[in-house]
Amino acid sequence: MQNIVIAPSILSADFARLGEEVENVLKAGSDWVHFDVMDNHYVPNLTIGPMVCQALRDYGIEAPIDVHLMVEPVDRIIPDFAKAGATYISFHPEASKHVDRTIGLIKEHGCKAGVVLNPATPVSVLEYIIDKVDLVLLMSVNPGFGGQSFIPSTLRKCQQVRQLIDETGRDIRLEIDGGVKIDNIEEIAACGVDTFVAGSAIFNTDDYQATVTQMKANAEK
Ligand code: DX5
Ligand code: ZN
Repeated sequence: MQNIVIAPSILSADFARLGEEVENVLKAGSDWVHFDVMDNHYVPNLTIGPMVCQALRDYGIEAPIDVHLMVEPVDRIIPDFAKAGATYISFHPEASKHVDRTIGLIKEHGCKAGVVLNPATPVSVLEYIIDKVDLVLLMSVNPGFGGQSFIPSTLRKCQQVRQLIDETGRDIRLEIDGGVKIDNIEEIAACGVDTFVAGSAIFNTDDYQATVTQMKANAEK
């Protein structure tokens, strides 16, 4: 099992002060920045694109930026995000016509590639791609909004994917996204997750450091 990573989702940050918010949440002990890209097409919400990723890099953010693409089509935005400083780029297989090609495209542009499984997407989608990805992101809510409740059936999926990852013997991160809180992170970690996205649970608190520290402690129990 790999080290625990906490990746705050900036969807719940104050966008009017984004640079400062990201700086503060990293100073508070977070490891990555989770960057939710929504297109009002693949998901019913609209957020931010490569310009904002570039702006965070220009502001001086050096931490890994974990781009979660909820867009369709996927391929044409990948080079722009790579140029804008993305570290990981993850996409939903349902939104790509040629999933293997999209993974290749992400890697050709020097980024790490992730695939995202929605709550109802079966684990079998990973069968012929697991040997190529760097990260599997399991959605524990339906994508589109922050602040939703964790869907319990995801826990079983976490265990299944952990087993698949271990069988490959490769260095693949298992990430969870949606409804992660201080009081359920221990149970999720016990199912083999090593990377935790949390939006409202962090940004809706006054003391980011206390929240991130408690999340890490609970995940490491
Ligand atoms: C949902 C996004 C999440 C979201 C998580 O589509 O992918 O990253 O911001 O928010 P919380 O942690 O509040 O459920
Ligand atoms: Zn996300």
